[in-house]
Amino acid sequence: MTLVSPTSENLDRAAALLRAGGVVAIPTETVYGLAASALDAIAVARIFEIKERPAFDPLIVHVLDDAMLARVAEDIPERARVLAARFWPGPLTLVLRKAASIPDLVTSGLSTVAVRMPAHPVARALLARAGVPLAAPSANRFGRLSPTRAEHVVNQLGDRVDCIVDGGRSEHGLESTILALEPQVTLLRAGAIPVEALEDVVGSIGIDLSSGGSPVAPGQLARHYAPRTPLRIVEDFVPEAMRTGAAFIGMSQAPPGYAQVRLLSPSGDLRAAAAQLFETLHELDERGLQRIDVAPVPERGLGVAIMDRLRRAAAR
Ligand code: TXA
Ligand code: MG
Repeated sequence: MTLVSPTSENLDRAAALLRAGGVVAIPTETVYGLAASALDAIAVARIFEIKERPAFDPLIVHVLDDAMLARVAEDIPERARVLAARFWPGPLTLVLRKAASIPDLVTSGLSTVAVRMPAHPVARALLARAGVPLAAPSANRFGRLSPTRAEHVVNQLGDRVDCIVDGGRSEHGLESTILALEPQVTLLRAGAIPVEALEDVVGSIGIDLSSGGSPVAPGQLARHYAPRTPLRIVEDFVPEAMRTGAAFIGMSQAPPGYAQVRLLSPSGDLRAAAAQLFETLHELDERGLQRIDVAPVPERGLGVAIMDRLRRAAAR
């Protein structure tokens, strides 16, 4: 780990790490974020691994400007433009329709992506230098407090990240406010911008704290996406006759006779497996198969989150 001050040289170095698939803790005006390129599924898998999140939650994607926003989201409604004009850069996150360039791991397989344009000058300098949108949850271990100083990140994650950029104390010390825009404007997470300030701009806002970042229901959103095709976690032998209309997902090897086989990581790398998982489920779900059989992965590191996701999908 290197804790660095935001000199021009250090910012260049941190941006180069981000472009190369590294994970860098960055200051924002809300809390410190654990950032990786939002276009790089393997780098995003490392975020979950570092946080020891037992489930994959959709992450917030940070953009520098409208040009970067256009690479992340599509069909942006007028209401979003109005809110962005008033509150960006700043601690407001908008749930928008996702562009194809954003890997499914970033959004937990949802068709929407949460986006914000941060105001912190160091976060902006890193976005400008990296030239890619950055996915970043708060830079704490799962279940621990969100960090508002670089030292908090050092204490919780210092031995796990490629770099920590010190940008001083986070101004708000509270995460961004999250809004969904469709079918109506709805508060998903209370945060640094009060609802009243938002209502001054867009009129009355509904509230649905059940699904957006509520600490009592981690991973709840992930359930919005499960394949329509029945999914089973298979520990035992599956009779040959039952394989013909089904797909098999495993790490490195598959039994013979399946209609479709997808191997997530021949080398057994859980990062690569996590990065592939949602994409693979989406793709197989389009094939009208009778069933998807998945071999369990070892429940350590990212394997815990992978198995959590698979059990939710299988529970349907
Ligand atoms: O202030 C913040 O927002 C901080 C800083 C680092 O920017 N980031 C942050 O990210 O709090 P994170 O990953 O801890 O919050 C992600 C939350 C999820 O728990 C989920 O509730 C919501 O954002 N979210 C993400 N994508 C969503 C989506 N497509 N639809 C609805 N909610 C979404
Ligand atoms: Mg958090």
